[in-house]
Amino acid sequence: MNAPVSGFSKLTKDQKISWLSKTFLKDSPLSEDVLRQYWNADLRLQQLHEEFTENTLSNFYLPFGIAPNFKINGELFAIPMAIEESSVIAAASKAAKFWISRGGFKAEVLNTVKVGQVHFIYSGHRGKLERFFNLVKPLLKSGVSYITKNMEKRGGGVLDIELRDKTELMPGYFQLHCKFETVDSMGANFINSCLEKFADIFKKEAAKYAEFSAEERQPEILMSILSNFVPECIVRAEVSCPVEDLADEHTTDPTVFADKFLTAVRIAEIEPYRAVTHNKGIMNGIDAVVLATGNDFRAVEAGIHAYASKDGSYTSLTHAEVKDGIFRFWMEIPLAVGTVGGLTNLHPLVKVALEILQKPSAAQLMEIIAVAGLAQNFAAIRSLVTTGIQQGHMKMHLMNILNQQNATKGEKKELIEYFKQNTVTHSSVVEQLEKLRQ
Ligand code: MEV
Repeated sequence: MNAPVSGFSKLTKDQKISWLSKTFLKDSPLSEDVLRQYWNADLRLQQLHEEFTENTLSNFYLPFGIAPNFKINGELFAIPMAIEESSVIAAASKAAKFWISRGGFKAEVLNTVKVGQVHFIYSGHRGKLERFFNLVKPLLKSGVSYITKNMEKRGGGVLDIELRDKTELMPGYFQLHCKFETVDSMGANFINSCLEKFADIFKKEAAKYAEFSAEERQPEILMSILSNFVPECIVRAEVSCPVEDLADEHTTDPTVFADKFLTAVRIAEIEPYRAVTHNKGIMNGIDAVVLATGNDFRAVEAGIHAYASKDGSYTSLTHAEVKDGIFRFWMEIPLAVGTVGGLTNLHPLVKVALEILQKPSAAQLMEIIAVAGLAQNFAAIRSLVTTGIQQGHMKMHLMNILNQQNATKGEKKELIEYFKQNTVTHSSVVEQLEKLRQ
């Protein structure tokens, strides 16, 4: 076993790479070159990326593309997406094109409340705690005014603080359940700063509250942290059109198509194995935009999947119906994202992404992201219930296989042409390439 390293973060980037090389890359000296190959020649840009996080050795690229022709609430958007999966942007673009002539997407933010909690243990008298809380609540709010001042100017701030008794779940467990409006910022730092100050004030005031016994004066503040479960920060996206308008070159019988589409969504509503994959497809669109716009995709993922199981079993995020001859397909999801603060002002490509989106507010970005998710799901279900997913997927994957096989420019050109008429599989591509090379 190798010896542990100490003081690693203090080494220079070159020293870190050389340690890594000596310790773990002994059999692959080329890896060191690859790490260096990904450095940006613009030193300022390189340094900026290195300073996002600790122990940076190199940069990790993802394709940054756009899906054009998204009509959302009557306006036209090109949606930036950062994603490696070959077929995602193509599928989003296809869905956008399909819906642009059928009224486009409608999206609406229903609410924007974020949540944070101070978790604490108090084993004393419940009534006394309630009286103390009511007394201290205004102090909690006023005690964070130096943090909330700017946020309040922008229309946000602390909305409410509630004392929650969780002792049925665990003896002595209480929370300050706090609600926030963070306007155009995702708000994680703002919320966490407020919560830590609440905890501080709560503790100090409890220590001198006359009605408490000596023990009650010392509630154990365990942790103060925002929640990524945001069921009151919801955006709705929807498409609809008369069933007969669903017809296109792939869908000759729109009634049969609508029927199959609804059944596919119903299966995702009732069957968790399918729901997870169905929702994964939605996240293909959501994560790609969340990432391109510099938002926290882990927070978004966690919040959305929790929401998908909020009623006790994991289910589809999208729903569909046909009523009075109208096909309707919609989704409501929680989304905590920002268009100011965090990476949004720092990462040059994020700035470009937000410019492409016409500098949206956080609420507008919620709408765009939800639309990207809905479009992705529409495209996936449409393929699944008609041609099957592999036809389009493998067409997009062809270039990856050709690159794996080190195909030349000329070979790629010939094989792309050949596979316009033939089914792409890994072995068929390798076989055709071998034939070509003979
Ligand atoms: C692949 O990344 C996503 C799909 O599996 C989604 C779905 O099955 O609905 C195609």
